[in-house]
Amino acid sequence: MASVSPDKDANSLKGRDLLSINELTKGQIGAVLSRANDMLDSLRSHSGLDSLQNMIMATLFYEPSTRTRLSFESAMQRLGGGVIGFSDPATSSTMKGEDLPDTIKVVSSYSDIIVLRHPEEGAAAIAAEYSDVPVINAGDGVGQHPTQALLDLFTISKEKGKISGLDVAMVGDLKNGRTVHSLAYALSMFGNHITFISPKQLAAPDKILSDLNREGAGIRSSESLDDAANADVIYMTRIQKERFNDVDEYRRFSNYYTIDEKFLNRAKEDVIVMHPLPRLTEISKKIDGTRNSAYFRQAAYGVPVRMAILDMIMNR
Ligand code: NCD
Repeated sequence: MASVSPDKDANSLKGRDLLSINELTKGQIGAVLSRANDMLDSLRSHSGLDSLQNMIMATLFYEPSTRTRLSFESAMQRLGGGVIGFSDPATSSTMKGEDLPDTIKVVSSYSDIIVLRHPEEGAAAIAAEYSDVPVINAGDGVGQHPTQALLDLFTISKEKGKISGLDVAMVGDLKNGRTVHSLAYALSMFGNHITFISPKQLAAPDKILSDLNREGAGIRSSESLDDAANADVIYMTRIQKERFNDVDEYRRFSNYYTIDEKFLNRAKEDVIVMHPLPRLTEISKKIDGTRNSAYFRQAAYGVPVRMAILDMIMNR
């Protein structure tokens, strides 16, 4: 779809695709976070929630999802819109051999916006070429997951009162974790310091590290969870089993890092622990009841943030 009608407001997202976090300016990100705050207020007061009446969102999910798809669908319905789509490509014509461009051409004639999750990096950009309506990338393989980065930033702003000047440790599968890829760019845009913590084999892609270095972002890399002890925010991630060709290789890393009560005792008292979820063993359930654990609040913010994104692309 790419950008359409030029808008006087530099922060407008109207009619645009959202394929990667790098397409957004700081002003646009700030506008999404501010609109998400308004949406949160509307949700709490049950008022002003019909801006997308008569609009239809299509969710095409070629990979598993719980939070992303359901929070998008909840967001659209909260704004008065309708939802079509599939959550399992085995029930779609993909099974009959239809390719992505043909599916997108047809679905874009049935809907006002398409939310796509796909196992291949770059799939959302291909979809956008063939779509007559805006496309939102809800995860393209090991590529990006821009709306997750926006809800992660929103969570940080709610929990910490700011989104700049923080020490953020990103931990786990930094090679394959698309949420890390999007969030790292966003964090560096706002002047945060990032410590990447992973086994060497699962380090963040060179392209991302060199982009961040070029922008002058404060980053360092480590293999030890000890280096998260002074962080303001710890962003844990799952080892992405589905991206490994070799199960034994996956098993080597599957229990590599765990945040538990013992770790929290030596971390900053007001550290927040985030995770895009689903979690496996990387966060002990024993810390779920602590004030430090922010991951379920983070998941809940998916709805107001996606309401903001949908409203800004489709409404104004
Ligand atoms: C993430 C994803 O799909 O990339 N989940 C999500 O969208 N909340 C993270 C993951 O699956 O590990």
